[in-house]
Amino acid sequence: MHVIIKKNQKLGSELAATYIAQKVNNAPKNRPFVLGLPTGSTPLETYRKLIEMNKAGLVSFENVVTFNMDEYVGLEAAHEQSYHYFMYENFFNHIDIKKENIHILNGMATDLQKECDDYEKAIQSAGGIDLFLGGVGEDGHIAFNEPFTSLSSTTHIQALTRDTIRVNARFFGGDISQVPTRALTVGVKTITDAKEVLILAFGAKKAKALHHGIEGAVSHVWTLSALQMHKNSTIICDEDATTELSDETKHYFLGLA
Ligand code: GLP
Repeated sequence: MHVIIKKNQKLGSELAATYIAQKVNNAPKNRPFVLGLPTGSTPLETYRKLIEMNKAGLVSFENVVTFNMDEYVGLEAAHEQSYHYFMYENFFNHIDIKKENIHILNGMATDLQKECDDYEKAIQSAGGIDLFLGGVGEDGHIAFNEPFTSLSSTTHIQALTRDTIRVNARFFGGDISQVPTRALTVGVKTITDAKEVLILAFGAKKAKALHHGIEGAVSHVWTLSALQMHKNSTIICDEDATTELSDETKHYFLGLA
């Protein structure tokens, strides 16, 4: 696992965007580049930067296929807090991606299990994910893989923990009762099956998750830690998110920069 520590979120996001653009630009042209994408406040600046680069002609998403990580169960795509809405509003509406290349789990599907199974199959048919971009929850979850989710999990229906519901209530006017209690999410294995994984973590509230994910043992308690087993995983974080890492760990990764 690589860890890149940048001074602040802006610099971390710029690095992530530049890196993604470079991967897309350098991808073989004989098949689409398959990108896994997250929602949340963390990737917003990265999306803004990618939009800027797209408009400036520095990167094109014409040959990119995307798979989003997760979606709430029970929210219409038009609901302002659905991840569908988030992705179109903050990214897809502003870039040159083909609509038919966008995949987001349907949390309104009548058969949720089938929706999950079909999603896994769609990822396989696309040739697997080349680069999975993600954020991390305060409790160390990646996508919606809450603590104690199997590290071998594939796309599944996930009951959200009370902590995650509480943290996400800020997007629902602070009203916990409005937050869906279930989500559809790619599994930990879906993420670790990607050829490359890039996780962003900014701010002191992510410090505990980084400590456990980077310095702790591989454990289903902090699903981020599963990336320790991945051949090509990177965390880009800001200094605030490193406050619970040991000095030795920080020196090691800063030395590599
Ligand atoms: C949600 C999403 C995750 C995201 C996490 C952190 O739980 N399912 O994919 O990483 O929130 O959100 P934020 O980036 O807003 O801190």
